Amino acid sequence: MINSEKNTENNSPQLWDGLWQKSPLIEEDIFDLAKEEHSIRWQRTEKAVVKQFGSFNGLKVIELGAGVGTNAALMAKRGAKITILDYSEGALRRAREFFERNGLSAEFIKQDALLLPANLLGKYDISMSFGLTEHFSGPARIKINKAHFDVLKDKGITFISVPNKYNLPYRIFKFLAETAGTWKAGEEYPYSRRELRKICKEIGITKYSFFGDSIFYSFNFISPLRIIKKLLKMDRDLSVLHLKKEKGTFLDQYLSYALVLYGKKSSLT
Ligand SMILES: C[S@@+](CC[C@H](N)C(=O)[O-])C[C@H]1O[C@@H](n2cnc3c(N)ncnc32)[C@H](O)[C@@H]1O
Repeated sequence: MINSEKNTENNSPQLWDGLWQKSPLIEEDIFDLAKEEHSIRWQRTEKAVVKQFGSFNGLKVIELGAGVGTNAALMAKRGAKITILDYSEGALRRAREFFERNGLSAEFIKQDALLLPANLLGKYDISMSFGLTEHFSGPARIKINKAHFDVLKDKGITFISVPNKYNLPYRIFKFLAETAGTWKAGEEYPYSRRELRKICKEIGITKYSFFGDSIFYSFNFISPLRIIKKLLKMDRDLSVLHLKKEKGTFLDQYLSYALVLYGKKSSLT
């Protein structure tokens, strides 16, 4: 179905199946995992997990609306037991391929995250999503955030990474892509910290904080060099050796592209 106001398609398995149709080169899957591993978002996620649980070893982790499950793969690499959940067959095919190409394993479940079965509730130490909940509006927007807490054991933690309403490069890029008719990710409504706080209040979550990815990285959305390279379909530099650990700033949690809600179930401190 087309949302005529924004000329973007509604969130549906068919929309995502279309986006996950193509397989990139093996080298791209290996590079993309290494790239995320060098990101400040991952470094901050890893630090929070180690602080909470000591290590990843044996932790039960679920990534909701996982796509290829990049962050779950990084946790699998460190010994966590992974469940990949997505309602798109295409996403699950790509996730299986992505894990296999990176020498990792997981359980793969085809399931609508808004209709979670009882056997998944209260079962996980960590739940997370990276680019899922911004695709929902109305009551479903609260429900999809709540789902992250519903799957957690007592004392479990969640990471919900969403686009930040106050990241200007992303807003410019999205506006231009929608105007040009090249936007492919369907309905997408960025968040503010204020909205996330309101949702936490509504679902009874009191222990939470925010962090971000790198504000500097978001300038890639509007980098002329990047845009030209993309238009000319130039090859990406896939050398893992060129990657450097990203550094963060205190501004990231306010203005970067990815705004991460780090929440804890129950009265944990
Ligand atoms: C932007 S992608 C996530 C990308 C991912 N973080 C990665 O590393 O590849 C969003 C995913 O959410 C899935 N999704 C959207 N709505 C869903 C729902 N109700 N239940 C399960 N999955 C859903 C889509 O199929 C899609 O694969």
